[in-house]
Amino acid sequence: MTIEENMTIEQFYNQNVRLYRSALADVEHKLHKLMDVDAFGISEIKTRIKELESLKEKCHRKDVQVEDIPERIRDIAGARIICLYLDLVPIIVAKIRQMDGISVALVKDYNTKPKDNGYRGYHLECRISTQTYDPETLETISDIIPVEIQVRTQHQHDWAELEHKLRYKPQLAATICSAEEELDEKVKNKKLKEYAIKMHNADLKRMDLRDTCAFTKRVL
Ligand code: GTP
Ligand code: MG
Repeated sequence: MTIEENMTIEQFYNQNVRLYRSALADVEHKLHKLMDVDAFGISEIKTRIKELESLKEKCHRKDVQVEDIPERIRDIAGARIICLYLDLVPIIVAKIRQMDGISVALVKDYNTKPKDNGYRGYHLECRISTQTYDPETLETISDIIPVEIQVRTQHQHDWAELEHKLRYKPQLAATICSAEEELDEKVKNKKLKEYAIKMHNADLKRMDLRDTCAFTKRVL
């Protein structure tokens, strides 16, 4: 990765985004192989590269200097796997851990310990070994690029998408001042949390239904 003295975030981004894209394409390719196996129940795989403006905002919010971006901002490249059943999450995670060229540096298990707002999901902060070709020096350059992989059930994903849409942006939150608006925010958060619990119960129900169907199939 290229980090020069006094580089701006924009320069860092423009010089390195190609590497993040290449690492993410590699991850996506490997994850897609899992999708071919029915038993993993993967319904969708999405990837995205963080926009420059969003990187600037995150560096500002977390007070990260340009030279610390590779170490501290680990979701410039992100992949998301959406699966049918909650109990497939650890199975998918185990498969990711076995993949060549991907090492798992940190996990955030919001299934065992959901966030206060009700968010559930399983995040893996990974390091991807990449090899790129430098057209100027004709050399092959080895690099380790961070990629965040999130594994969610469909229900968890639906909830997170909705919560994301309904959430006040941080800059808007600062403008919330009236008592009435504050109360609205509290009610919204309470309802979102209740909804998260309902979605979790739906995940449990879904596994139960699957198991019932499997049992019926066996006895008939
Ligand atoms: P950020 O990446 O700045 O959020 O901080 P972080 O790295 O400490 O957070 P974490 O790894 O826990 O979560 C990163 C990503 O998970 C976010 O970019 C979202 O995609 C997702 N996520 C985490 N918490 C929430 C949440 O409360 N609501 C929604 N909708 N998504 C979340
Ligand atoms: Mg993160």
